[in-house]
Amino acid sequence: MQNVKRILIVDDDDEIREIIGEMLQSFGYECEMACDGIEALAKVKLDVDLVLTDIVMSKMDGFEVVRRIRKQSEFRDLPIIVVTSLASKDDRLRAVESGANDFIVKPIDPAELKVRTDSLLRMKEIQDTIKRHEEELEQKVQKRTESLRNTLDEMVDAQRKTYEAYMDTIRRLAIAAEYRDEGTAAHIMRMSHYSAVIAKGLKFSPGEVEIILQASPMHDVGKIGIPDGILLKKGKLNEEEWDVMKDHTNIGSRILSGSSSEFLKAGEVIAMSHHEKWDGSGYPNGLAGEDIPLFGRICAVADVFDALTTKRPYKEAMGNEEAFEIIRKGRDSHFDPKIVETFFDRLDKILEIQKEYQEGKVKTKILDIDRLRY
Ligand SMILES: [Fe+2]
Ligand SMILES: [Fe+2]
Repeated sequence: MQNVKRILIVDDDDEIREIIGEMLQSFGYECEMACDGIEALAKVKLDVDLVLTDIVMSKMDGFEVVRRIRKQSEFRDLPIIVVTSLASKDDRLRAVESGANDFIVKPIDPAELKVRTDSLLRMKEIQDTIKRHEEELEQKVQKRTESLRNTLDEMVDAQRKTYEAYMDTIRRLAIAAEYRDEGTAAHIMRMSHYSAVIAKGLKFSPGEVEIILQASPMHDVGKIGIPDGILLKKGKLNEEEWDVMKDHTNIGSRILSGSSSEFLKAGEVIAMSHHEKWDGSGYPNGLAGEDIPLFGRICAVADVFDALTTKRPYKEAMGNEEAFEIIRKGRDSHFDPKIVETFFDRLDKILEIQKEYQEGKVKTKILDIDRLRY
C-alpha cells in the first residue's frame, strides 16, 4: 500500500494556508499547517515529506525557516518549496542559497503546484529508497563483520588453549624424566630460561628464543629409558654402565623424532647434542666446534651451570663464583667460547632467573617468555 504523502504548509495568512491546503488535499496529499517559523520547525518533525513555505512572515521569514530546517542533518534531503509574491531574481537566488529546492509565485496556479510537488516528492521517494537500501546494506555488513569477528575470537581462543595444553604436556613429560634422576622442576625452569637469555644475547629472533625456551626442558627426556639400577646408582658407574647412561641422548632424540612441531624438532636436536663438547670429546657422536648444533651448545652451558649450582642428595650446591670459574675454564674445551662470552655478558639476567626459580618455589607452569623481559 502506497503511503499518503504529508506536506507541511507554512504561512502566516490563514486564508492562503487554507486555500493551499485544499488544493493539496484535492491532489491526494495530507496537510500539516504552521502559522509561523517556530511552529514550522516543530511540525517538520511529524514525518513530513515536503515543506511549502511562505517567504514574507513576521518574526522569522521563509528564508530563515529553510536555513534552520536544512541545518538539521535528518532534513538535508527534505524537499522545500518557497511560495512568494516577490518574483524578483534576487529573491529566487536567496531562496536557492538558503537551501530551498524550488519556488512558486503567488497567486498559485494549481496545475503548477501539482507538477512541482509531484516531481519533488518522487525525487524524495527515490532518495528514501536508496537511503533505506544503504542502511540495510550497512546493517548486513555490520552483522557479518560482527559474526566474523566472533568466529575469529573463538578460533584464536581455541588455538591458544591448544597451544597451552600442548606446552603443558611437553613440560610434564620433561619433568617426569627429571624426577627419576633426583632432578627437579626448578632445574628445568632455570636451565630453559638461561638458554633463552643466551639465545637472546646471540641475537636470535623472538620466535627462535621461544623455541629454545620451550624445547630445552626436554634435554634429558631420554632418562626415562635408563634402568633404575644405573640411573639411581649411588656409587660411581663402571664403563659399561656409563655407556648405558650416555645413551639417554639417543633415547631422548628417538622419543622426540618424527614430529612436525618446531618445538619437538628442536627438542630432538637438543636431546641428542647437549653433551657434545667443543673439542670433540663429548658424546654420543663426538662432534666438535660448529658441527655441534647451536641449540645443543647453548643448552650445554645452561645445563652445566645449573647442575653445578644445584644441591642434589649426593652433593652440595657449588657457589656461583666457583661455578663461573669452571665455565670459564671450559671455554674452548667443553664450551663454545662465543656462548661462554654471552653467558657472562648477560650475567645480571642469569642471576635474576636463579633468584626467581629457587628450589621448592616452582610449580609446573607454562614457561613465560615475557616474565623476565630478556
Ligand atoms: Fe643429559
Ligand atoms: Fe639437566
